[in-house]
Amino acid sequence: MRTVVRWAVRHGLPAVYLQRGARDGDPLGRLLRDRTVSDEPYDLYERLRARGPLTPSSLGLVTTSHAVATEILRSENFGVGWDRSAAPGLIRWALRFGDELDATGVAEPPSMLVVDPPDHTRFRRLVSRAFTPRATAALEPAVQRIADALLDDLESTSGPVDLVEAYAAQLPVLVIADLLGVPLDRRADFLRWGAAAAATLDPGLPFRRYVSAERALRAMHAFLREHFARLRRDPGDDLVSRLVGLPDEEALSERELHAMVMLLLGAGFETTMNLLGNAVVLLDAHRDQWAALRADPSGWAGAVEEVLRHDSPVQLTGRSAKADVPVTGRTVRAGTRVTVLLGAANRDPEVFQEPARFDVGRANARDHLAFSGGIHYCLGAGLARLEGVVGLRALSERFPALRVSGRPVRRDLRTLRGFEHLPVVLR
Ligand code: HEM
Repeated sequence: MRTVVRWAVRHGLPAVYLQRGARDGDPLGRLLRDRTVSDEPYDLYERLRARGPLTPSSLGLVTTSHAVATEILRSENFGVGWDRSAAPGLIRWALRFGDELDATGVAEPPSMLVVDPPDHTRFRRLVSRAFTPRATAALEPAVQRIADALLDDLESTSGPVDLVEAYAAQLPVLVIADLLGVPLDRRADFLRWGAAAAATLDPGLPFRRYVSAERALRAMHAFLREHFARLRRDPGDDLVSRLVGLPDEEALSERELHAMVMLLLGAGFETTMNLLGNAVVLLDAHRDQWAALRADPSGWAGAVEEVLRHDSPVQLTGRSAKADVPVTGRTVRAGTRVTVLLGAANRDPEVFQEPARFDVGRANARDHLAFSGGIHYCLGAGLARLEGVVGLRALSERFPALRVSGRPVRRDLRTLRGFEHLPVVLR
């Protein structure tokens, strides 16, 4: 019963609006409800762009504009939270069910991703030290070692391989598990739990998928509870040990701790695996660019930026106006939700020349918004870039003749964009 209520409030209601919107031709409704559109959203983005930089949709406003997205993401007048006290009584009552600890996901408070200051500032300060440029650079040998070991395992294979399963998903999950001090032998579970957490980011998730996501999240919380208890008894030299051992004045509540570690784990691999898979498919389709990178591996950093821009692993996010705010000549009323289509902003012709062209040498590719902007700018952006460069360079050096050998299958997700299966031959 609680699951039904939680689903109805968080996903069922938005689903009704989106479904109705999709039927009436609303582009956002079609994007979020129609799998064939979300598999290939770029034409739809262009149709939306033609309507103007900030247009109405079945779920508030939507923007495809790089300038408007940047303005909204950086603005203090927009937040990620929404004011529960403004919701109708029935919804306020139902939302209390969302506070059940062992059902909480990465898209619900107190996940750092969806809380505003001052809580956001407090959470971010506690973890940002582990992701400074210096701390990230120090991880390079470990990332290289993990990539090499995974590629060693692939040496003996002769037939087609699912590159997502064998490499793109494994590399980031092993790196983040190591960083967080969670046991590597649970990685199959992390991947399963991470996929569930990723699905809950999508607005209007169907009931059956929500139920299976909640089941996986409960299993993850149960694991985390035991893991925290272990680290309290026997702390290691890792980020989670530090978080469970914080002095009283800084300590996170049990609920905050769960949300934080779940987010770090999930965000740590659910996105980077998409970056790696998207990169391999794009470079397979642009063989001359793969060859150029083989000849001059210093180009990999630029190539990773161009993949992030051209086929962004996180396609959308959202913000709500905290007050009446003027944006691009119109007033966005307090409480209005704005969907920010990062994947469309990254193809804005005002910023990127011939935006649909994939070009690893593009000079301003790094101006993309694939890591968002403002105070929620991706905490792990440096780590993701490192894993992208090391992971793709190592793959291209070991298997220069690698080719996609069958039809890659997209993940059935809307917020995140990547491949579920990517059949390749290595030689
Ligand atoms: C290609 C890989 C990645 C992409 C495209 C990506 C993208 C993003 C985006 C778009 C956001 C902000 C969403 C918003 O503004 O609403 C974000 C936030 C975040 N990312 Fe990443 N991410 C990636 C890898 C990582 C990695 C490796 C970590 C490592 C732990 C990570 C941790 C986080 C965290 C903790 C947040 C929340 C930050 C906050 O709310 O202050 N991400 N990421």
